[in-house]
Amino acid sequence: MDSPARRILIINGKGGCGKTTIATNLAVAYACSGASVALLDNDPQASSSYWAEQRDPKLPPIRVVAKHERPSMYQTQSFHHRLPAGTDIVIVDGHSNARGRDLESLLRQTDIILVPMLPSSIDIRAGGKFITDLLTHRIYRSAPRPVGVIANRVQPNTQTHEKLMQFLGCLDVPAVAQFRDSPVYTDAAEIGQGVVDMKDCRAARKETAQWKQLMQWIDQQTPNHRAPARMRPRSAERKKPLGDSATTA
Ligand SMILES: Nc1ncnc2c1ncn2[C@@H]1O[C@H](COP(=O)(O)OP(=O)(O)OP(=O)(O)O)[C@@H](O)[C@H]1O
Ligand SMILES: [Mg+2]
Repeated sequence: MDSPARRILIINGKGGCGKTTIATNLAVAYACSGASVALLDNDPQASSSYWAEQRDPKLPPIRVVAKHERPSMYQTQSFHHRLPAGTDIVIVDGHSNARGRDLESLLRQTDIILVPMLPSSIDIRAGGKFITDLLTHRIYRSAPRPVGVIANRVQPNTQTHEKLMQFLGCLDVPAVAQFRDSPVYTDAAEIGQGVVDMKDCRAARKETAQWKQLMQWIDQQTPNHRAPARMRPRSAERKKPLGDSATTA
C-alpha cells in the first residue's frame, strides 16, 4: 500500500499572525519541489480559497479543498476522504476560532502542527497560552505529534525580535523557521503566489532558504509518509528488495 499523505496543520488562536501566509507559501514551496499538494481552507473567511483563485494555472498546481463549505449528503465530513487521489502533502489553513469539535477533528487529522507567532508582547502572550492549551489538549495528549513554532514578520536585530527569540528559547517546542517582515509576502498573496514562485525577485529569493529549512524539518518528522514525486525512486528502483535504502517512498 502507498504511504499516507503528510498532513500539516497551521494554527494559532491569535488572529493575523500569518496562518494563511504560511499555509499558502508552504503549499507553493512543496508544489515547486514536485509534490502533489492539497490546501485545506478551514477558515470561514476563505482567504486561502481566494488566494488560489488568483493563481495562474501555468504555475505548479495547488488543489484547494474548502472545508467551510458543508459537504453534500454523499460526502464525508473527514477532509482526508475528500482529497484528490495521489496527494503527497495536505496543508490545513486553520482559523483562530477553532474550538470544541472543530479543533478536535483538526487535531485528529494531522501529523505535524505549525504555530506562527509575531514578535509583539501581545502575540507572544497569546501564542504562549495557545501552545500550553494545545500541549495539554486531550486529543493531543492521546497521540502527541511534532509541534514547531514559526517566528513570522521578524525584523532582525530589533528589540522585539530579541524578545521573541528569548521566549521561543524557553518553550518546550522548537522554533523551526523565521520569516522576515517583508512586503514581498503581501505582493505574492495579491497574485496567488508564494515567495518560492517568485524566482526573479531578489527579496523573495532571500526567503527561500528558510522555506527549505522548514520543509526539511517537516520531512524529518514524518519519514514514513509519501515523498514528493521528484523525490520518489523510479519504478525500476522501486522493485529492489525490501531493506534496500533506495526504497524510501
Ligand atoms: N512575513 C510577512 N511579511 C509581511 N507581511 C506579512 C507576513 N506574514 C503575513 N503578512 C501580512 O499580515 C496580514 C495577516 O496575515 P495572514 O492573513 O496570513 O494572517 P492569518 O493568521 O491567516 O489571519 P486570520 O487570523 O485573519 O486568518 C496579511 O496582510 C499578510 O499579507
Ligand atoms: Mg487566515
